[in-house]
Amino acid sequence: MSSLLHEWANLIFRWAHIIAGVSWIGSSFYFMWLDSSLKRRAGMDEGVRGENWTVHGGGFYHTQKYMVAPEAMPDDLHWFRWESYMTWLTGFALLTVIYYFGASSFLIDKSVADLTPRQAVLISIACLVCSWVVYDWLCISPLRHRPALLFVVLYVLLTLATYGLSHVFAPRAVFIHIGAMIATMMSGNVFFVIIPNQRVVVADLKAGRTPDARYGQIAKLRSTHNNYLTLPVFFLMISNHYPMTFGHAHSWVFVIGVLALGGVVRNWFNLHEAGKEGVAVAWQWPTAALLAAGLMTFSEWRPDAPSGVKAPSGAEAMAILTTHCVSCHAARPAQPGFAEAPGGVRLETVAEARRHAARIAAQAVATKAMPLGNKTGMTPEERAKLGAWLAAGAPE
Ligand code: HEC
Repeated sequence: MSSLLHEWANLIFRWAHIIAGVSWIGSSFYFMWLDSSLKRRAGMDEGVRGENWTVHGGGFYHTQKYMVAPEAMPDDLHWFRWESYMTWLTGFALLTVIYYFGASSFLIDKSVADLTPRQAVLISIACLVCSWVVYDWLCISPLRHRPALLFVVLYVLLTLATYGLSHVFAPRAVFIHIGAMIATMMSGNVFFVIIPNQRVVVADLKAGRTPDARYGQIAKLRSTHNNYLTLPVFFLMISNHYPMTFGHAHSWVFVIGVLALGGVVRNWFNLHEAGKEGVAVAWQWPTAALLAAGLMTFSEWRPDAPSGVKAPSGAEAMAILTTHCVSCHAARPAQPGFAEAPGGVRLETVAEARRHAARIAAQAVATKAMPLGNKTGMTPEERAKLGAWLAAGAPE
């Protein structure tokens, strides 16, 4: 693929992925809200659990929820499922364009694990498949009767997966994989469980049979998981632009923290929308704030950070940038597959380096996020020198 075409594929799939994701999560938030704001009223039809009035787009909507099902199935029943499927498909396309076509830059870091692109891609695909198989197995195991314990087990497994993957992939690829694994569980829930179960219920109703209430319970467990995993997934997807998270020597701590933080915030929304008051909705935001403060503080702690290094001369610092960065960060990158300086960051002169000092420090000194995949084998001493030079104001 030419590098320009590659960039376009990246942009178009990203665009589509965000639109599909917003539609999926938007409709799922809407239904969560709808469910918890249903009100009962005297004289409602038999089988109606509650109703709700809303105003939007110049009109009024009157929604009623039938538990199990209405007496007769409407002819045109709308199913919400393509939002989820398209999110997964566009996400996988984006993963392929960036991480599979660019495996040697984005997926592999030889100083982490000496993989070939084919091995790295196979591991990536295996991660997605395993995430669904293991998760689905947990949900049908006896743990399904202990939903809280099941969630704890899931949490521990995701933490272990992060720790494990941080010894296999380049730091930048780890969080996106954990995010993609969780998103695969979520889409898998819709594709393999929620929609097929709903189809069985619809078929039973059409045939005049009483549907088994078990189907509803199974779907409820899965959609509760989806609900609690949504916010952490968003964080994991965008975090790979923030090396203080994925680039930390103990990046798994951020995954634990964010799974907890996102879950706690989601819990507040769920209870608040259900009309809960008092202590039930008082603890979530303070807890979330504490967790966020904890993660920020933790990101400051860098056991691997160099210290006590003297600032080198401008020429020596520029030699480091030229050796390790300029093959990509130039007006015309020499690195195959790059049409222009990535992120608009050019590092060919002292003035340019000075302009991007804070970002260089974040990417190449505080963390090892750059050079991408440490292709050029930048050493800790070089990082320390670069850091000291930037801290001294990047002198000529
Ligand atoms: C193999 C190519 C390659 C090399 C070598 C490389 N980079 Fe990058 N760099 C990239 C790519 C690709 C991005 C865009 C990443 C993204 O948007 O997620 C990037 C982004 C950046 C950014 C911008 C990040 C932001 O804030 O959005 C900075 C700063 C940076 N690199 C610094 C460096 C430094 C310093 C070096 C050398 C020590 C270096 N890079 C070496 C490919 C490279």
